[in-house]
Amino acid sequence: MTLLIATFALLCFLGQTYSLEDYAPVVIRVTNEDHQNKLSNEFKMKGHNISIVGDKFMIDGKPLHIISGSLHYFRVPAVYWRDRLHKFKAAGLNTVATYVEWSYHEPEERQYNFEGDRDLVRFVQTAAEVGLHVLLRVGPYICAERDLGGLPYWLLGKYPNIKLRTTDKDFIAESDIWLKKLFEQVSHLLFGNGGPIILVQVENEYGSYDSDLAYKEKMRDLISAHVGDKALLYTTDGPSLVGAGMIPGVHATIDFGVTSQPTEQFDSLFHLRPAPGPLMNSEFYPGWLTHWGERMARVGTNDIVLTLRNMIVNKIHVNFYVFFGGSNFEFTSGANFDGTYQPDITSYDYDAPLSEAGDPTPKYFAIRETLKQLNFVDEKIEPPQPSPKGRYGAVPVAAKLSIMSPKGRCDLGKRYEDVSGGTLPTFEELRQRSGLVLYETTLNETEGILVLNKPRDLVFVFVDGKPQGVLSRMHKKYHLRISSTAGSKLSLLVENQGRINYGTLLHDRKGILSEVIYNNKVIGGKWSITGYPLETVQFNSSVSEVTQGPTFYEGTFVLPEGQKPLDTFLDTTGWDKGYVWVNGHNLGRYWPGVGPQVTLYVPGVWLLEAPQPNVLQILELNKPSDSSTMEFIDNPILNRTGNLHAWKFP
Ligand SMILES: *[C@@H]1O[C@H](CO)[C@@H](O)[C@H](O)[C@H]1NC(C)=O
Ligand SMILES: *[C@@H]1O[C@H](CO)[C@@H](O)[C@H](O)[C@H]1NC(C)=O
Ligand SMILES: *[C@@H]1O[C@H](CO)[C@@H](O)[C@H](O)[C@H]1NC(C)=O
Ligand SMILES: *[C@@H]1O[C@H](CO)[C@@H](O)[C@H](O)[C@H]1NC(C)=O
Repeated sequence: MTLLIATFALLCFLGQTYSLEDYAPVVIRVTNEDHQNKLSNEFKMKGHNISIVGDKFMIDGKPLHIISGSLHYFRVPAVYWRDRLHKFKAAGLNTVATYVEWSYHEPEERQYNFEGDRDLVRFVQTAAEVGLHVLLRVGPYICAERDLGGLPYWLLGKYPNIKLRTTDKDFIAESDIWLKKLFEQVSHLLFGNGGPIILVQVENEYGSYDSDLAYKEKMRDLISAHVGDKALLYTTDGPSLVGAGMIPGVHATIDFGVTSQPTEQFDSLFHLRPAPGPLMNSEFYPGWLTHWGERMARVGTNDIVLTLRNMIVNKIHVNFYVFFGGSNFEFTSGANFDGTYQPDITSYDYDAPLSEAGDPTPKYFAIRETLKQLNFVDEKIEPPQPSPKGRYGAVPVAAKLSIMSPKGRCDLGKRYEDVSGGTLPTFEELRQRSGLVLYETTLNETEGILVLNKPRDLVFVFVDGKPQGVLSRMHKKYHLRISSTAGSKLSLLVENQGRINYGTLLHDRKGILSEVIYNNKVIGGKWSITGYPLETVQFNSSVSEVTQGPTFYEGTFVLPEGQKPLDTFLDTTGWDKGYVWVNGHNLGRYWPGVGPQVTLYVPGVWLLEAPQPNVLQILELNKPSDSSTMEFIDNPILNRTGNLHAWKFP
C-alpha cells in the first residue's frame, strides 16, 4: 500500500455521470515497442491461457472482470484460510491477492520453511478449490506494514553496505536465490500450468521509492524467467508515480482509495501509455493502517460502495486492499517514518470488510449488496455469519522470572562475545531478528547525563539493576540523568519495535547506532552483550526469580467442559507494555495505555479443549502489573487511544 496516495476526499456525486465512452474501447496499437508486443500477444498455454486483448483480460478466450481482495496468508492461521476465502467468494469476489513474504519463509539465511502456516502451496490450492483466481505479489520487497517490508533482516547483517531495492549485486544475488526457491514451490500453480495464479506482481510501488530502469528490468527478468508465458506480470503504483514504477513489457496498474473520480486517476497512465490495456485499481483502500498512539483508522462504507460501483461500471478491475487483514503475530509488524518513527499496531484489522477475527461487518454486506446489483454474486452461496466468541474470563497470573536476573539470563538469554570501543554491534550483526538485546558496562563516575543519539528503538536504562528511565526513538528522547557510583553497572536493554517498511529509511538496523556518551565522554571500555531473541519461551517456572526489570508472568486456565475452543480476545487493560504467548504462540505486542489497540486477538485453534490446561505467559517490560490477572473477553477493543507522551517508565 502507499502512504502518499490515499484520497479520503468527501464524495460528491451530484450531477456526475460517467459513461463507458469516456475511456472505452481501448485498442492496443501494436508497434515495434517491446512492451506493446508483449501486452498484445495472446499467450499459448497448455490447457489454459490468459492474455490482454485491447482493454480486457481474457482467460480461456473469455473476458474476466477482476474483482479481488487482498488477504495475507501470513496473518492468519492456515486452519482458517478456507473460511476466509469462502467469505470472499460469498461477497462476489472472483480473485484473491496475496503478498509472498520472503522473511516468513527464510527467517534465517538458507533456513527455508514452507510448512504449516507457511504452506503457501496449500494456500493457493485452497483458493483454487474455493473458486478464486490468485494474484501473487512476490516482491521481493512487499511493504505490507511488515518488518523491513517483508525482506529478511539478515540481509542487513550479512552485508553491511547492502542497498536494498537497487541493482546492488548482493541484493540481486540474494533475490535471485530466493525467487528460484519460491518458484520451485509455486510454478505448477501458474495459470498456464493449470493453477489459479493469473497475475504475478513485480516489486511493489517502486515508483514511490525510486525510478531506476536498470533495477526494474532486472527484477522483471528475474521473475519472468520463472513465470514465462504462464501468467501475466504487472506493477502497482500510485497514480502520479506510475511513470517511475512501470516497466517495459509489464502491465501497469495503479492504486487509490475512495474518490468520486476513479477514471481520472488513470490520467498519468494514459499519458505515458496511450494504450494501457485493462485499467486496474490494484489497491483500493476500504480501510487503513494504524500506528501506536493514533486513532484507529476508519473509512466510511458509503464512500467505498459509491467508488466501487463507479469503478466497475467504468470497467476498472479492482483489488480491495485489504478485504481481510488479520494480525501481526510475533514480531512481524513494521513501522513508518514521517519525521517521527511510527511503529504499527499488532492488529491488522484495517477497518476491512472482514474483521480481524474474520467476521463480516456492515461494510462487507454493503459491498456484497453492490456486487449483487452488478451481477457478481452467486446467490446460491449463503452469506456468512459472525463466528461465536469465547468469554473465558480473568486468568490469574503470577510473576515468575525477571529476564535480567541470574536465572533469567541463564534460561532466556544468549551471551554474545564482549566488545570494546565506542560502537556496539547491531541486532543484525549479532544475527538476532527481534526481541531484546542487553548491553552492559561499568561506569567510573557518579551522577551524570547519558546521551544516546540513535536508540533503535526503545532503551530501558538501569544502574545496578535499578530503573533510571528510557531513551526512545519514537519519543525523540535521547538524554537521561542517571545516578551511579564508581564501579556501577550500566545496563541498556534495547527493544526492537519493528523495522521500517516504507520510504527512504528502509535500511533500519536495530540496537544502539550511535556512541554511548556519559558526561560528554564516549564510553569506550568493555561491553558485555546478552540477547533475548524470544523466538521460543521456555523456562522452568517451578522456581521463580523476580528482580527489577522486565518480568515473565504465567498462569494456566481450562476452557469450559465439552466446548470446542472459540476465538477470543485478551484484554491487556491494567498492563503496561510487552508481549503475550498462549500455549507458546506469540500473540504480538501490547501497549494499552498508548493504544488504540487494547485487546489481542486469540485464534481458537491455538487453545486446548478441557480438561487440558492452557498456558498464558506475559512478558511485561515496564512496571509491575496493577492487576494479577489478564481477561479473555468476547469483543475486540481497538479504539482506545491513549497518550504516547504521557507514557512513563517507573
Ligand atoms: C485459449 O483458450 C480458449 C478456450 O479454451 C481457446 O478457444 C483458444 O483457442 C485458446 N487460445 C490460444 C491462443 O491457445
Ligand atoms: C572507565 O575506566 C575504564 C578504564 O580506565 C575505561 O576504559 C572506560 O572507558 C571508563 N568508563 C567510562 C564510562 O568512562
Ligand atoms: C525445575 O526446577 C526444579 C527445582 O530445581 C526441579 O526439581 C525440576 O526438575 C525442574 N524441572 C525441569 C523440567 O527441569
Ligand atoms: C469504541 O467502540 C465501541 C464499540 O463500537 C463503542 O461502544 C465505544 O464507544 C468506542 N469508544 C471510543 C472511545 O470511541
